[in-house]
Amino acid sequence: MACVVAVVLASCTSAGPPAIDLSASAANGLKLSQNNGCASCHGTDFGGGTGPTWQGIIGQTVAFKGGESGVVDREYLTEAIKYPDKKKRVGYSVVMPYNNLTDAEISDIVDYIEALSN
Ligand code: HEC
Repeated sequence: MACVVAVVLASCTSAGPPAIDLSASAANGLKLSQNNGCASCHGTDFGGGTGPTWQGIIGQTVAFKGGESGVVDREYLTEAIKYPDKKKRVGYSVVMPYNNLTDAEISDIVDYIEALSN
């Protein structure tokens, strides 16, 4: 396990978040995503890894285990961060861990994810 983590970290040092203009809340969302381990699974450039990409996902249709699907919007993203095991996407074997983020912090992260789709 330690090995896997080391490899993930090593392979991530070259990439960074895309250079885009961010609102104050989205900039805070980026910082929160980096400080709460989100980037370790969603990519230091948030282009995906163990977890799905955050880039360009607004409006995408995603498939869930069990046959349902949904369109990615603010509501979906908020729910996915608050209750990571509620809807499981097809194609991902790892289940995202729960976090201690407040609603305000989640909102800032969602602002950041939205900015990645602009
Ligand atoms: C251990 C890896 C891991 C970590 C850490 C992690 N995630 Fe995830 N995340 C996933 C996986 C895997 C999915 C796919 C959903 C599923 O099948 O449960 C996911 C799904 C999501 C989604 C839904 C996106 C979509 O396209 O369906 C959002 C939003 C998200 N994560 C945000 C976060 C945030 C914010 C953090 C940090 C607090 C975080 N994740 C930390 C692995 C992770």
